[in-house]
Amino acid sequence: MKTIHAAITGVHGWVPQDVITNDDLSKMVDTNDEWITSRTGIKQRHILKDPTKATSDMAAEAVKGLLKKTKTNPADIELIIVATITPDMMFPSCAALTATKVGAVNAFAFDLNSACSGFLFGLETAAKFIESGTYKKVILVGADKMTSLTDYTNRNTCILFGDAAAAVLLEPNTEGNGVIDSVLHVDSTNWEYLCLKAGGSLKPATHETVDAGEHFIYQDGQPVFKIAVNSMANTAREVLERNSLTGKDVNFLIPHQANKRIIDATGHYLGLKPEQICVNIENYGNTTAATIPLCMWDFEHAFKKGDNIILAAFGGGYSWGALYLKWAL
Ligand code: UT7
Repeated sequence: MKTIHAAITGVHGWVPQDVITNDDLSKMVDTNDEWITSRTGIKQRHILKDPTKATSDMAAEAVKGLLKKTKTNPADIELIIVATITPDMMFPSCAALTATKVGAVNAFAFDLNSACSGFLFGLETAAKFIESGTYKKVILVGADKMTSLTDYTNRNTCILFGDAAAAVLLEPNTEGNGVIDSVLHVDSTNWEYLCLKAGGSLKPATHETVDAGEHFIYQDGQPVFKIAVNSMANTAREVLERNSLTGKDVNFLIPHQANKRIIDATGHYLGLKPEQICVNIENYGNTTAATIPLCMWDFEHAFKKGDNIILAAFGGGYSWGALYLKWAL
């Protein structure tokens, strides 16, 4: 019997129309375009302005576009996983709300919370449902409304984040294309460097937590920067070595888009040329779980069937890893 791999058979993204540019931010906090561009590579971020819309609305738009593009009947979808740290509410899950909004009446659905590594962890998880032979059509969405956690008086973080969603369809493939291998990790020793301090069971919302701004994302950038580079590069190298590949065999690296300098350093460590590295951080900023599928959507025109693609991410938890897939389209 031939091995079943979970292949990506469609990718589609959705971003809100409104944008905040670096110049817009320089009117809100003490910053400027030169600092933001040189330190992060970001020029603008898309923001979901409509106060009645949430992450599931963006996820649903991405999934609707994906279903149309792949000519898939929503009733044929068996599972929807939404990787997110900004669900519409604590429960019901963003995935359940998304499934109903797209008419996936026969699907079960759940959220997966692993911050910026969410899409990577989700892809490994979704792949197992396909590889087991039990499921034939699984959708994985990376979606985050990061502006809902952003303090627009804090220049350390407000320049970084944006809102977006992007989704992939996974189906069985017996030609050897799809998800091949991954190396994934968590270590919460230093979780406090990157977290949301309040609003969970440790520190439920109170007037004090709101006054202290503890419902906004907190990040101590420098220590996170250093470990992000090492972790993404080391796990990417490990997954290459395990599959007897070198940087020369890699067609594309799709890295989490947190900082252009982290992306460049990871690519350099792996010996990749700039044209092998997918980068779109300048247009969207850091959209957390959405960065990798959004980048895949932006660059899919360049991918060919059988291409070796490495995904790599680092985020809150800490959580990090790399995944090797062979492009199937
Ligand atoms: O996605 C999840 C994982 N997250 C990451 O991978 C992010 C990792 N960290 C980073 O990307 C970077 O650390 C940041 C982009 C967040 C910050 O860049 P940095 O080069 O580490 O800057 P810094 O925090 O060391 O700050 C350098 C200086 C400081 O001034 P002094 O103390 O040297 O006078 C900051 O106060 O830049 C100042 N600064 C700013 N200046 C203008 C910090 N933010 C800004 C700003 N505009 N927005």
